[in-house]
Amino acid sequence: MPGIRGPSDYSREPPRHPCLQINAKEPFNAEPPRSALVSSYVTPVDLFYKRNHGPIPVVDDIERYCVDFCGLSETPKKLYMRDIRMLPKYNVTATLQCAGNRRTAMSKTRKVRGVGWDVSAIGNAVWGGAKLADVLELIGIPKLTSSTQSGGKHVEFVSIDKCKEENGGPYKASIPLSQATNPVADVLLAYEMNGEPLNRDHGYPLRVIVPGVIGARSVKWLDSINIIAEECQGFFMQKDYKMFPPSVDWDNINWSTRKPQMDFPVQSAICSLEDVQSIKPGKVTISGYAVSGGGRGIERVDVSIDGGKTWVEAFRSQKTGIPYIADHISSDKWAWVLFEVTVDIPHSTEIVAKAVDSAANVQPEKVQDIWNLRGILNTSWHQVHVRVGHSNM
Ligand code: MTE
Repeated sequence: MPGIRGPSDYSREPPRHPCLQINAKEPFNAEPPRSALVSSYVTPVDLFYKRNHGPIPVVDDIERYCVDFCGLSETPKKLYMRDIRMLPKYNVTATLQCAGNRRTAMSKTRKVRGVGWDVSAIGNAVWGGAKLADVLELIGIPKLTSSTQSGGKHVEFVSIDKCKEENGGPYKASIPLSQATNPVADVLLAYEMNGEPLNRDHGYPLRVIVPGVIGARSVKWLDSINIIAEECQGFFMQKDYKMFPPSVDWDNINWSTRKPQMDFPVQSAICSLEDVQSIKPGKVTISGYAVSGGGRGIERVDVSIDGGKTWVEAFRSQKTGIPYIADHISSDKWAWVLFEVTVDIPHSTEIVAKAVDSAANVQPEKVQDIWNLRGILNTSWHQVHVRVGHSNM
């Protein structure tokens, strides 16, 4: 593709914030400290987790950069940044979460394959760009289409990066055409993050944002968009990011028996405390995030200071001055809530958080029950151990 290229080595990586915890260096995978997530509703770009499968692409000439639209659409077309910027611009506040968030904790019960993550493979940003539904209209596909005349039912996003899982080919993923052409689904071709042009790590110059869906489908550094009959056959759709039962292992796995994971389930984590933390006895404010996929709001966050025997309800918030009501028009439906509760902790104990979404889905208690060989979607109750000491704290 003119204007952009995917390097095959790591000599042109962008600078990154020194406080990121690096989980893999090449490709670069890193997350912020837990405390950074609860410092603000919108996560600063430099502290937002970075999840890559290859070297970061390089834009040589933004004027020549364009996205190719091909496949089972009525009119193949090239769209340049100026064409995309000409469409109405939307700002969508959406939480992006990697399906591997909290994988490290899952691997402690039984080994899993994949980059280890603590609880911060997640962030909330204001994404600015054109709605994919408007862009597809430009290439002749009307709003609310589930199948084109030539049988197109899925929209495939192809990047320019070189991934070893694809044998040096690009990262790709797809979503159903019905979701892509539905303006209410808020799928964006985003060129801004928190009011600034996307930076290289997060997909400059153009990426997809699929709100409410695992981060793996929000393809960065777009090269082409294809209208296809079946879902994308790429590695990350077919041989990764699928949820298997605990009985499936590497010896008996049959990838084709499961569908690619799309919406993420209800999730929460305590971010004001590390897994094992020493504190003084007395009042402690516990805070964290809670989020659900598919646009479902957070109905409740329960916190326990006795390992899950009794619970208190935490206060939930999004924007300052606006009371949070799950699924209400005044709330950001694709975004997390931050929660907070002040409790009295007289002695060492286990502090636990669990969230309930607006469909009354609750996080499962034990990670063992949802263990899966790729270590995705660890949404079990989040637990931290506090050691209460009376001196030298
Ligand atoms: N897009 C491309 N081209 N290459 C990638 O490696 N990683 C995906 C997705 N899009 C990826 C990609 C995954 S698994 C996640 S979780 C998100 O991007 C992470 O986005 P971020 O790095 O902006 O946080």
